Amino acid sequence: MRILLTIESTCDETAAAIITEDGNVLADCVAGQEDLHRIYEGVVPEIAARAHLERIIPVIDRVMVDSGVTPNQLSAIAVATQPGLPGSLLVGLSAAKGLSIAWNLPLVAVNHLHAHVYACSLGRSEPIFPCVGFVVSGGHTHLYRCESSHDWVPLGGTIDDAAGEAFDKVAVMLGIPFPGGPRLAKLAESGNPKAFQFPRPLMDDSKRMDFSFSGLKTAVRYRLVSEGKQDFTSLNLDPQYRCDLAASFQQAVVDCLVAKAVLALKHTGCERLCLGGGVAANKVFRQQLGDAINAIGRELVIAKPEYCTDNAVMGALAWEKIRALQPDSLDLDIHPGLVRHR
Ligand code: KG4
Ligand code: ZN
Repeated sequence: MRILLTIESTCDETAAAIITEDGNVLADCVAGQEDLHRIYEGVVPEIAARAHLERIIPVIDRVMVDSGVTPNQLSAIAVATQPGLPGSLLVGLSAAKGLSIAWNLPLVAVNHLHAHVYACSLGRSEPIFPCVGFVVSGGHTHLYRCESSHDWVPLGGTIDDAAGEAFDKVAVMLGIPFPGGPRLAKLAESGNPKAFQFPRPLMDDSKRMDFSFSGLKTAVRYRLVSEGKQDFTSLNLDPQYRCDLAASFQQAVVDCLVAKAVLALKHTGCERLCLGGGVAANKVFRQQLGDAINAIGRELVIAKPEYCTDNAVMGALAWEKIRALQPDSLDLDIHPGLVRHR
């Protein structure tokens, strides 16, 4: 049985996993950094890179020890090389290259966004391809047409903020510490989603499968300012007002996400949509996306909660690449932007 070491360090999670070719996860470790970034209300790239540097070897060591696998039992090393923060990506790639030389193992580059979609196939017996892939996370909001594990056509994406990023920034306005998406969603449970009419940018443009959340975020800010609540980071807001605002904002984001997901399914004719990324944990989003996809007779597959947020197990996508393509060489480089879709 062939065995793979996967490494993930695209943003602020340092992660590694050991996975067999038939998808058995022998070890899985994720070291988060939220505590380091909280006071800045967002991920600080330099701090993230330095923290990866401290953690990468202990995290790899942890999965080797936990799995009981020795280097000579490994068949390859997979590493996420795009997209992500340059300093963070470099730490993971440098570790992978070093181990590839030391242990004489082939290297396989993984596209982090493709891996988020591939997370939907973990623990599922039927293949997910062909499908529409939908990544909705703190850093990304993208739709793909995925014919196979190595044939990805971008359909659209955010032109400014990612959905999770908008959640986190509006959460800060409501006095919720970073990353506030989950707690904003909790507040929204007690709020009225129709209390405020926020814009749904690009939602009705049936020619584009793109998103824009920056204006929506600013609309929430101006709403607070217009109410004389300029000091929006304080907790002096009326509790029901906060809940209503959270629910109305969340509904605007969900409406945009659902509309474009349905458009992508109709446009491609695909039978299935595979959803990954941290925002897939949002209950209202899951429910309304499921209802909308059901209504047009298609299937929704959502990654297991532990594989929605950043992790190295989704790097199992590398097995598909190993079977279909040549391994990558030591010339492998990082691609921080969304430039390559392979
Ligand atoms: O995929 P992920 O771990 O990070 C990136 O790769 O970006 O996703 C984290 C993001 C954060 O923005 C977080 O606030 C958001 O997912 N998130 C949520 C929920 N749970 C996590 N946003 C809205 N509702 C949730 N329940
Ligand atoms: Zn991610």
